[in-house]
Amino acid sequence: MNVIEAIETRRSIRRFKPDPIERTVIEKLLEITTLAPSAKNEQPWRFVVVEGMAKEELLERVDGVLQNAIANNWPTGSLRGSLQAMRQAPVLILVFNSVSRSGLSERFEYAKFLVDTQSLGAAIQTMLLAAQSMGLGTLWICDVLYATQEICSYVDTNDELVAAVSIGLPAESPLPRPRKAWSEVTTFLD
Ligand SMILES: Cc1cc2nc3c(=O)[nH]c(=O)nc-3n(C[C@H](O)[C@H](O)[C@H](O)COP(=O)(O)O)c2cc1C
Repeated sequence: MNVIEAIETRRSIRRFKPDPIERTVIEKLLEITTLAPSAKNEQPWRFVVVEGMAKEELLERVDGVLQNAIANNWPTGSLRGSLQAMRQAPVLILVFNSVSRSGLSERFEYAKFLVDTQSLGAAIQTMLLAAQSMGLGTLWICDVLYATQEICSYVDTNDELVAAVSIGLPAESPLPRPRKAWSEVTTFLD
């Protein structure tokens, strides 16, 4: 599968088969992920692969956050659905930003935040496309940010949680979701 085919056929997958994914496959996926570009080649990414009992334990804590938010009438976005997908998929990869912004002035701190976020987004999209070409389904999940504290404490890290990616064999084949036409979102100046 070439890159354009991977881009065209990738979908967010929310239903997964329970089949485990071999460790060597995940290692290959991460090796390819780290080929993503990053600002100043700083490679701000750190990955934590969560499987098996550890995934169940972690998601119990995330469920606690969801139940507490529901009890308090706080917004929960699509956390409930994301939690279901994370439970189904055999592999959950947590993505962290490991580069500190301490000591920067407020303006530069924000610029650095934007730059690191772009590098991390490049890595996540690289992961999704590589997984697609390896026959794996993925879901990019930012709903985990509702449970940032709980997840960082479970993993015992001071790095910043950015997102999570659920990975497994797809158990659904969603139709393409609609996109704005490129011509609607593009201006040519000459
Ligand atoms: C930054 C980002 C965060 C996302 N977070 C979630 C999420 O928390 N839960 C979820 O179900 N989907 C999440 N998605 C998936 C989007 O809903 C999905 O990409 C979009 O609806 C387009 O569908 P497609 O990926 O099948 O083309 C996220 C996607 C991105 C890029």
